[in-house]
Amino acid sequence: MKTAWRIPYPTLGRLAGIRTAVESILGLFRDIVKSVYLVLIQILTRLAYVERKLPSSISMWARLDVIPRAPHHERHRLSLGRNSLIEASCVICTWHGDVILKDRASIGIGSIVMGPVLIGENSACSQNCFISGQSHLYEDISKKFLRQGFKTEKVVIGKNVWIGASSVILPGVKIGDNSIIGAGSTIIEDVPSYSVAVGNPAKIIRKYNFQTKQWERV
Ligand SMILES: CC(C)(COP(=O)(O)OP(=O)(O)OC[C@H]1O[C@@H](n2cnc3c(N)ncnc32)[C@H](O)[C@@H]1OP(=O)(O)O)[C@@H](O)C(=O)NCCC(=O)NCCS
Repeated sequence: MKTAWRIPYPTLGRLAGIRTAVESILGLFRDIVKSVYLVLIQILTRLAYVERKLPSSISMWARLDVIPRAPHHERHRLSLGRNSLIEASCVICTWHGDVILKDRASIGIGSIVMGPVLIGENSACSQNCFISGQSHLYEDISKKFLRQGFKTEKVVIGKNVWIGASSVILPGVKIGDNSIIGAGSTIIEDVPSYSVAVGNPAKIIRKYNFQTKQWERV
């Protein structure tokens, strides 16, 4: 009489447990190797791939994606003027275009800036903003959007502009000098100089009147 060979249930459970433990250890090892690699890339980027005038400051906790992802890709510039600042947890990506910060321009904690973007003198982008000069193409429905390439339209932020926290600035937008963007606003079209724009999509609520010397409601 033949007896079927069966692994007792507790043994199977133990094997599954060992497999999970091995996967966790290998996963942790992979994460550590990857983190060390990324730290080295960040050090190399800061040493060789950023144009900066001193004094300027880049947090060691900011991620700079400046080195092209493949050798045949074009490299774009990350340039910082005097007294400019990139704060902690920012991601600055130049894979599709230059990111230029003029003198005393700053990018607040947790913001993401994807080139091509120009930020003018004395302009400040508050915490957690998203500013992008590039967008995925999606017209061809037979292909994944990731395979359809990008379009780039430069974002130009003028001088002495204050961008409120958690704002979103979309490709191609120009914000004129001395304007203010309210917290949490989404900017989809140009904002003229000396204007206050708020909301999603943002609308202009105030303009500076040079006769009365007041910010007046629109
Ligand atoms: C844009 C801002 C400066 C406007 O200030 P203000 O001129 O005093 O504006 P008011 O408070 O008079 O508001 C005017 C109108 O705009 C609306 N509004 C103001 N800020 C808004 C915003 N961020 N989003 C949407 N609507 C806004 C108000 O509700 C009000 O609407 P109503 O007239 O229908 O009632 C201010 O609201 C703001 O968003 N500051 C950013 C704060 C920030 O990000 N700080 C980061 C520190 S670095």
